[in-house]
Amino acid sequence: MTAPAPPAAGRSGRTQVAIVGGGPAGLMLGQLLHLAGIDSIVLERSTREHVIGRVRAGVLEQGTVDLMHAAGVGAHLARDGMPHRGIYLAFGGMRHHIDFASLTGGRGITIYGQNAVVHDLIEARLAAARPLLFGVRDVELHDVRGLAPRVTWHDADGARGEVRCDFVAGCDGFHGVCRPSIPVDAGTVYERAYPFAWLGILADAAPSADELVYSLHERGFALFSMRSASVTRLYLQVPPGEDVNAWGDERIWQELHRRLDTSDGWRPNEGPVSQKGVTAMRSFMFEPMRYGRLFLAGDAAHIVPPTGAKGLNLAMADVKRLAAAIVEFYATGRGAALDEYSPRALRRAWRAQRFSWWMTSTLHVAEDATPFDRRRQIADLEYLVSSEAAMKSLAENYVGISLD
Ligand code: APR
Ligand code: PHB
Repeated sequence: MTAPAPPAAGRSGRTQVAIVGGGPAGLMLGQLLHLAGIDSIVLERSTREHVIGRVRAGVLEQGTVDLMHAAGVGAHLARDGMPHRGIYLAFGGMRHHIDFASLTGGRGITIYGQNAVVHDLIEARLAAARPLLFGVRDVELHDVRGLAPRVTWHDADGARGEVRCDFVAGCDGFHGVCRPSIPVDAGTVYERAYPFAWLGILADAAPSADELVYSLHERGFALFSMRSASVTRLYLQVPPGEDVNAWGDERIWQELHRRLDTSDGWRPNEGPVSQKGVTAMRSFMFEPMRYGRLFLAGDAAHIVPPTGAKGLNLAMADVKRLAAAIVEFYATGRGAALDEYSPRALRRAWRAQRFSWWMTSTLHVAEDATPFDRRRQIADLEYLVSSEAAMKSLAENYVGISLD
C-alpha cells in the first residue's frame, strides 16, 4: 500500500482519512492508521498548548493501557502511570475498599492524565511526520455520502485548505462540526441532563490515599483522585451552572473536608490549588455513528457523566474498532467491518452509559431528594459493600467490559 503525499496547510491535497479533531480519539486514530501505513490528516481547532494543557479525565482501563502500548506510545505511561487495584467508597463517615483485582481475576485501572495521553500521541504524530494542523477554523465536510468526500478549512494564517479523502473521521468532541453536518432526519439523539455539575481542582499536595475515594455525603458527592505522587485531583458536586469564582480556595477545602474526611482519621492533604473548573454532567447518544463515509468517534457521538470514568476509555475503544475496520477495508476492499462499526460501538457505549448513569445516581444528592430517597441510597451502598455479587458487578464495569 502506498501512502499518498500529505497535503500542506492551506493547499489542496489528497489523503486516505481526514480526521477532524486532535483530542485523544483523533490522535489515537491517526497513530493506529499510521502504523498500518494509512495516511491521514488531523485538523485541530485549538492550539497545541491548549490541547495539551486541558485538564480532563485520568482513569485508564486495562484495554486503554494495552492500546497505548500496542500503538507504540506507552513509554511514559509505563513510567508515570499509577496502577490501582481498587477504589474506596465512603458514606456514613466510613471508607470501604472495593478490591477490583480479587473480584475480577487480577484486573485494575491506571491513573494517567488525559492531557498526558494527548501529549504522548502528539509526540508520536510529529515523529511520524504525518500532517497535524493546529488552529484550523471553519472546517466543513462535503460529499460524505459519496465515494469522494472533501474537507475544507482555513488554517491559522487564514489560508484556505482542502483535502480529498476516502473517509472522514469525526473526532471533534461534543461541540464539533461533524455530528451537526449529518441531516437531522438521518440520526436520533438520546439524552439526559443531570441536576448536578462537578467543581474540580488540581492541588500541589501528595495524595493521602493509595486509591480513589468516591464519597456520598448528605451535602453532596465528593471524589478524591490524583495525578502523581505530588498532585491531588479533587471534585465536589455543585449545582449546574455554578460560578467557579464563587469558590475561593478556603471554601473548597472546607467543603472537601466536610464531605470526604472519614472517622478512621483519613482526610485529603491540602496544598496550593493550581487549576479550578466546573464541568456539566450529561448523558448523550447519537445513533448511528456513521453517515455515508463519515464515521463519528468519542465525544462527537456520545457523552457520559464522569462518575464512572468512562469517557476517555470509550473514545479509545471507538477508534481501535474504527482503525481496524479501515485497515480491513484497504487490505481486502470489503466494507463488512465498517458496516459493523456503528452497531458494535453503540453497544459498548450504551453499556458504559448505563454504568455511568448508575454510578451518578447512586452517589449524588438531588436537590429534590426526599428523606425516603436518601435512606434508600444509603441502603443501596450498604448492600453494595456487603454483597460480593454487587461488588463484582461494580468491579467488572469499572475496570472495563470486554465487548468485541
Ligand atoms: N474543528 C477542528 N477541531 C475541533 C472542532 C472543529 N470544528 N471542534 C472541536 N474540535 C477539537 C477540540 O478542540 C478537541 O481537541 O476536537 C477535539 C475533541 O477532543 P475531545 O473533546 O477530547 O474528544 P475525544 O477525542 O472524543 O475524547 C473524549 O475527552 O471530554 C473528554 O471525557 C471525555 O475523556 C473523554 C475524551
Ligand atoms: C479524575 O481523576 O479526573 C477522575 C477520576 C475518577 C472519575 C472521574 C475523574 O470517576
